[in-house]
Amino acid sequence: MGMAINNLPLIREECEILHMTDKQLREIMTRLHNDLVKGLSKDTHPTATVKCWLTYIQDLPNGKERGKFLALDLGGTNFRVLIINLGENHFDMQSKIYAIPNHIMTGTGIALFDHIAECLANFMKEHNVYEERLALGFTFSFPLKQMGLTKGILQRWTKGFSCSGAIGEDVVQGLKDAIARRGDVQIDICAILNDTTGTLMSCAWKNHNCKIGLIVGTGSNACYVEKTGQCELFEGDMSKSDMLINTEWGAFGDDGALDFVRTEFDREVDSNSINPGKQIQEKMISGMYMGELVRLALVKFTRMGLLFGGRGSDLLFQRNSFYTKYVSEIESDKPGDFTSCMDVLEELGLSHATEADMAAVRHVCECVSRRAAHLVSAGIATLLNKMNEPRVTVGIDGSVYRFHPHFHTLMCEKIAQLVQPGISFDLMLSEDGSGRGAALVAAVACRESLGCA
Ligand code: BGC
Repeated sequence: MGMAINNLPLIREECEILHMTDKQLREIMTRLHNDLVKGLSKDTHPTATVKCWLTYIQDLPNGKERGKFLALDLGGTNFRVLIINLGENHFDMQSKIYAIPNHIMTGTGIALFDHIAECLANFMKEHNVYEERLALGFTFSFPLKQMGLTKGILQRWTKGFSCSGAIGEDVVQGLKDAIARRGDVQIDICAILNDTTGTLMSCAWKNHNCKIGLIVGTGSNACYVEKTGQCELFEGDMSKSDMLINTEWGAFGDDGALDFVRTEFDREVDSNSINPGKQIQEKMISGMYMGELVRLALVKFTRMGLLFGGRGSDLLFQRNSFYTKYVSEIESDKPGDFTSCMDVLEELGLSHATEADMAAVRHVCECVSRRAAHLVSAGIATLLNKMNEPRVTVGIDGSVYRFHPHFHTLMCEKIAQLVQPGISFDLMLSEDGSGRGAALVAAVACRESLGCA
């Protein structure tokens, strides 16, 4: 038997391009800050990459919201319909997940809305509210130019959706039309919101310091509480001091602002995607792309002869075969243990991997996920510094944050390093923001009796 050669040092060296120094992270913070200001300002908004959309949400929940609401949640891996009962200090919720088949994700906007309306009607039958007229909050997690709480013009699709005839159209109207085409159910659409705002609202229901909402899931984005006076595009009632801003920071880097830290793997993920040149920061962070970044690095190292004795497998060379959940599984192994890693490699047809290979695979996963956590941290630190409040809770949801074993810790450490002294923060998992948050926004709208659509 030949001597096993340990290529780990060489692989570590190759992975250095995935490491971002604090100096680079601080440069990213400066650029993001400037882009946020551009997005908020009237003159620069049209050409800004980070759009900072108004959400028309100006009131946080006060815990007194009551009632029965329907909610829709579209924009992650699944589509869900929910019914939520808000009561005193508690809420109960029932929900059902519906698949969005691929032909609908990439079909027409009309077919998408017909599908949503059909799921909604079926859900109402099953929950014996088919005859009732209920208020509904619609969590729609794509970039929307909101013109009010019940009007939002779709700007672009992200995360693998590409329905035709929807961009430039009002999504609330699209849903209303689909419900009207059926003619069997009565719905009052009280609000359309982003999953980040739902997450913030859901967290703020119990925690009054919650002023940032973050998603690190299939996609990535953040919203925060801004002073109404800073929102130059807002033409409504200036008497309320605050407004939630949906930054849409996934698009940060679309003008090249992140090119100084992007790698060959990032460029390949982007050029193979259905939206090349768009959502550049999102492609470095989120669950839709993380596994593929790892796979591309593994392919490179295999071709260099540094991994698996230079012998890959059909699956390894197949696009998107390395799921992001594998990254979380592999990094969940205790140091020195490779149980999950071995399972993953076996699934990929790489059972000839040695223990040194497994250590290398794990290292690649760590580099990619750590870079994502650091980029998100730079973003959160930028928002914290901009808000300049002494204590802020960040409500967070999304599969990457939820299931990756070290993401939370990595973020705590890095934000603490990057944030201005005197600002303290907490990172809090926000339970089911897209559902409960939608009900809360609808409830606050009812409380304020801002008529429903
Ligand atoms: C969308 C955002 C959303 C984020 C997280 C991004 O692709 O543009 O609206 O908040 O994904 O779901």
